[in-house]
Order: sequence, then C-alpha cells, then structure tokens
Amino acid sequence: MRTPIIAGNWKMFKTVTEALEYTTRFRELVKNIQGVEKVIAPPFTALHMVSQLLIETGISLAAQNMNEFDNGAYTGEISPVMLKEIGCQYVIIGHSERRALYGETDEGVNRKLKAALKHQITPIMCIGESLAQREKGETFTLIDTQLKKGLADLTKEQVSKIVIAYEPVWAIGTGRTATPEQAEEVHAYIRQWLKANLGNEIADLIRIQYGGSVKPDNIAGLMAKPNIDGALVGGASLDAANFARIVGFRQ
Ligand code: 13P
Repeated sequence: MRTPIIAGNWKMFKTVTEALEYTTRFRELVKNIQGVEKVIAPPFTALHMVSQLLIETGISLAAQNMNEFDNGAYTGEISPVMLKEIGCQYVIIGHSERRALYGETDEGVNRKLKAALKHQITPIMCIGESLAQREKGETFTLIDTQLKKGLADLTKEQVSKIVIAYEPVWAIGTGRTATPEQAEEVHAYIRQWLKANLGNEIADLIRIQYGGSVKPDNIAGLMAKPNIDGALVGGASLDAANFARIVGFRQ
C-alpha cells in the first residue's frame, strides 16, 4: 500500500517569523494525524529554522527548487548538499512556475532529479499540461514527453524513490480544480506509463500527487481515487488550520 503524501508548497510566501509561527501551530494541529506523510515546503530563507521545529514531529521538510551541482560559481543558487545538511528530505523539481517563468526544461529536470537522488533527497517531480495543451488534446503526449525526458537514464531503483506530482497548469491558483475523474484519468495514465516502462512492481510503489486548487472541501473526493496518492497544495497550505484540515482529510 502506498502511504498518502500531502505537501504544502508555500511558493514565495512567508518571512522567517511567519514561517516559525505557522510551523509551531501546524505541528500541534496535526500531531495526532496518522497514516499520511506530511510535508511543508517553505522558501529557502526559512528552511533551516523551520527544520529545527520539525524535529521528532513526523513532518518532513521540502525545498521548492535546487541547483544540479554540489557547489561552484552559480550566483544565487542553492545546492543539494546545502539542503541535505539542514534536513530537507524532499525537493520539488520542475514546478510549472519554474518551467514557465525561469525556463526550466525536461532535460534540466532530469539532471536535478539525478542530483537530488545522489544526495538522498526525494524529488517531487512536477508534470502537467496547460489549458491550451488540454484543449488541443495534447495532454497525454505531453505527459509522455515529460516522463520520458524527465526520467531518462534513471535506474528502476532510482525511479522507485521519486514522487510524481501531476499539476494541470490550468488548475493552479485558479480555483478551478480538476474533478476527481479528470485527475484520476491522468493519474491512471501515468501509472500505466510507469508499468509499461518500469514494470508493475515499481509502478505500484510510486506515489502520484495531484496539485491544483486543492482545498479542505475537495481533498477527500480526490483522495478516494485509486491512483491519487496525495496532494501538492499551494494557496490552501498557507494557513496552518486550513492545511491541517487537508492533511486530516480522513477525520
Ligand atoms: P494552488 O493549490 O494554489 O492551486 O497551487 C498548486 C501548486 O502549484 C502546488 O505546487
């Protein structure tokens, strides 16, 4: 059985002070919620301080991006070695905002996945189509390409460690969630792709999160689908009580 994984991607929100206030509250609110892996992804500046508050809480820490190199003359970048040292267990790779606004490519995603895995940081690899691509009927070909190029040259063992996040771009920050049926259709397709390319055993292990306007009132419907193993939550993760309700969707 795949343990559900629900992650809050804070994007470029919260100062260190706000992050600490949130984390102190959130860890209290979710301390009795079992059977779900809880992850928060604050901005870089807050990671180290937040990691101190997460010790022995069962809540994992994620970064929102990283560089593919261990160190070097890359002004403004953060390396996997730095993230590992401060206790990041996860890193979000290839978020659609990074692809659209900062020119990230499938090839770059592939290099970052390898770098994260090399340092035992679990990548959350984001894929998903835009509205124009969906309307042109290109969703599945795009998913194919993103998976093929993103996972190129990774061993089965490496792929088995990755979390995939399906985030249709048209559902991000728009309030327009994919219906559970729409999301499940793509998740099932991703699972099928993994089966065909890596075998049933690996495909059955990999967790596929849905992301795009997930809220306390739509999480349960999404999680009820067989191939939806969690959520990557943006806006609704910014309020501790709201995000605690999402994490506790079974309660
Ligand atoms: P929203 O939940 O704000 O739509 O954002 C989704 C997302 O991009 C998570 O990575």
